[in-house]
Amino acid sequence: MSFQITLLPGDGIGPEIISAAVAVLEKVGMLCGHSFEFSEHLIGGIAIDRTGNPLPEETIAACRASDAVLLGAVGGPKWDDPAAKVRPEQGLLGIRKALSLFANLRPIRPFEELLDASPLKREIVQGTDILFFRELTGDVYFGESGRTGTPGNETAFQQMVYSTHEIERIVRLAARAARLRRNHLTSVDKANVLEPSRLWRQVAAKIMSEEFPDVRYDVVLVDAMAMFLIQRPRDFDVVVTANLFGDILTDEASMLPGSLGMLPSASIGDGGPGLYEPIHGSAPDIAGKGVANPLATILAVAMMLRHSLGLEDAAVRIENAVQSVLADGLRTADIGGGKHSLGTEAMRDAVLFRLE
Ligand code: NAD
Ligand code: IPM
Ligand code: MN
Repeated sequence: MSFQITLLPGDGIGPEIISAAVAVLEKVGMLCGHSFEFSEHLIGGIAIDRTGNPLPEETIAACRASDAVLLGAVGGPKWDDPAAKVRPEQGLLGIRKALSLFANLRPIRPFEELLDASPLKREIVQGTDILFFRELTGDVYFGESGRTGTPGNETAFQQMVYSTHEIERIVRLAARAARLRRNHLTSVDKANVLEPSRLWRQVAAKIMSEEFPDVRYDVVLVDAMAMFLIQRPRDFDVVVTANLFGDILTDEASMLPGSLGMLPSASIGDGGPGLYEPIHGSAPDIAGKGVANPLATILAVAMMLRHSLGLEDAAVRIENAVQSVLADGLRTADIGGGKHSLGTEAMRDAVLFRLE
């Protein structure tokens, strides 16, 4: 079969990790008898530099016309002026909204081989297998914002907004996923303080009791969840939460597998093309040095093969190749514990070599 893939390398380490991931996709395609046609488009800071717009219309059209989208990262110090009128991050938020990608799946399953790369004790991390469902098109991210007052004496606001429909659809998706796993769903909110969280809690409870009475369901406040994640991560199966909480909790959770550089994600909606990306950003501190860990993006390719293209066999081949690289002791600097480490291209080649 032949698939159309839109590539959005973006900024910072984005182009480096996308190029490694594309090499892996091409090789697995060859091995499994599938071909991929790539078209590359602008997003983020580089799109601002070239067109003035972090999300050009052509990029949106190309994404809509493809089977799946693979994104590197956006942002960086060059575009970070708080007074700037346009920001790279608007490109990412814009494409999520344009494609109605309301569910961001972020699996946290530490590789056995990497248990010692985590700053947490092995006995805490071992056996962790969490699937986060981060809501992706609501919350403060898309609420009304602005400033009032006069220079030197301003007030800023950003509304947190959730509707019943937005809560229902993400909770349903997460609960269905729980049924296929260990049948346990945890909803994380801040209902003791925030009105949108109180609506979230009511809507989620109704969906769970009416449609998923068979799924074990509990609710945790987000501040406590931040603690439980590093105290007893094994106790969680599927976790569903709002956009902002999910953003923060999953960066925290990346310390279980040991590095942001290991965590892939899938953003999906109602049947259109999905968007696949690492959860990390453009890593300006290491951009251009050839040392970024490409494994998160390579694992995002596996998620793309599985969730958007229906190529489970190809996905498993990639995941096995990554595992085999780690089993052989090969590490990039972020997971290397200060010992000898591979650069981005050497890590790519190590994965390519083990694909079969
Ligand atoms: P970051 O995720 O880019 O980096 C945080 C730390 O993790 C850095 O020390 C970085 O070197 C390290 N790191 C990240 N990915 C790595 C990899 N693959 N290999 C090795 N080390 C890696 O977060 P930040 O520095 O807070 O943000 C930088 C920029 O990225 C900001 O402009 C932010 O808005 C943007 N950002 C974009 C995305 C995205 O495009 N999806 C996600 C997060 C942040
Ligand atoms: C992420 C990032 C984005 C977010 C930013 C860059 C807009 O942190 O994908 O996790 O907050 O969603
Ligand atoms: Mn984030």
